[in-house]
Amino acid sequence: MKLLVTGGAGFIGANFVFYMLEHHPEDKIVCLDALTYAGNLETLAPVMEHENFRFVRGDVADRETVFNLFEEEGFDVVVNFAAESHVDRSIEDPGIFLRTNILGTQVLMDASRKYGVSRYHQVGTDEVYGDLPLDRPDLFFTEDMPITASSPYSASKASADLLVMAYHRTYGLPVTISRCSNNYGPYQFPEKLIPLMIANALADKDLPVYGTGENVRDWLYVEDHCRAIDLILREGRVGEVYNIGGHNEKTNLDVVRTILKQLGKPESLITFVGDRKGHDLRYAIDPAKIHSELGWLPQTRFDDGIRRTIDWYLDNESWWKNIMSGDYQQYYERMYGNR
Ligand code: NAD
Ligand code: TYD
Repeated sequence: MKLLVTGGAGFIGANFVFYMLEHHPEDKIVCLDALTYAGNLETLAPVMEHENFRFVRGDVADRETVFNLFEEEGFDVVVNFAAESHVDRSIEDPGIFLRTNILGTQVLMDASRKYGVSRYHQVGTDEVYGDLPLDRPDLFFTEDMPITASSPYSASKASADLLVMAYHRTYGLPVTISRCSNNYGPYQFPEKLIPLMIANALADKDLPVYGTGENVRDWLYVEDHCRAIDLILREGRVGEVYNIGGHNEKTNLDVVRTILKQLGKPESLITFVGDRKGHDLRYAIDPAKIHSELGWLPQTRFDDGIRRTIDWYLDNESWWKNIMSGDYQQYYERMYGNR
């Protein structure tokens, strides 16, 4: 099987490339990635010379690049991870989110139609369901819930999902969509909650917690997400949406305290800062469908996953320090300077 993996120089895409090369050595993977601020070719260094891997730098919204690549390679399967993915950046400047996340999806599906694929898989997010109240722990996101996105990021991802389902119904494109909860693990860009807090704690810098820190996220170790996508590609039903999550809800404050405790740093580093605009209160996935249809269950408990993640950041300081010494610092000033 030949796969096009877009966004493979980012956090989840890179983990997916590693997962697939390990578990399906017979498959060939071509990664298309624009190497935006979030893409890091250093991450893919271990596989750049792999005989079943090819990296191509390019923009998914650039029709000519994408069509030429499809013509040249003839893909069986497309897995679209490429996206602008950070909610705070989407609040600052939504434009690029609409281009990459919506138009990029359109271009990839147009190419998939023209050249023919056996599967187009859209990597989606649970954020398209909006949020759940904090005082109703009995409520969970199910696949049939209406889409009610809150941020420009989630609205762009929701638009893409709608377009994917429309291409299935209108043109018969063989699509699947997965909607996963928050991921954590190695290679996550240090602007997201967990790696940012690890990096700041190690430098004895303040840990900026938005609002009261009571917002709840449902954390999943990245490898469990990769395994779920692999299963959907091989056994999932065309035209279906699958939620992915492992009933692992934590408040942001819980997560930050866990990190501080494991690093032996004081809770006095926690600094409450102004809340995110439109901040979603709680995300919580009901994974019953993927469990009953495909037998998927998460394999990594949060205690183990967070320890492994912290150890990875400790062992790979140069990876994230290189990032933090670049463009990231100006961004950091813009985001947190006046908070
Ligand atoms: P990321 O920001 O770490 O990586 C995104 C990658 O896409 C980068 O390598 C970047 O260079 C590339 N990219 C951006 N614009 C591009 C373009 N126009 N053309 C080609 N490549 C481009 O993101 P991530 O956290 O790995 O998320 C991957 C996907 O998973 C996204 O679609 C995201 O919406 C989805 N998702 C993420 C999470 C999470 O917790 N991180 C949860 C659920 C779903
Ligand atoms: P994030 O990692 O940006 O993921 P998402 O917004 O997609 O869920 O944020 C996770 C949670 O952590 C979210 O409730 C916002 C909060 N947060 C902070 O409190 N401080 C921070 O510096 C960041 C980046 C996030």
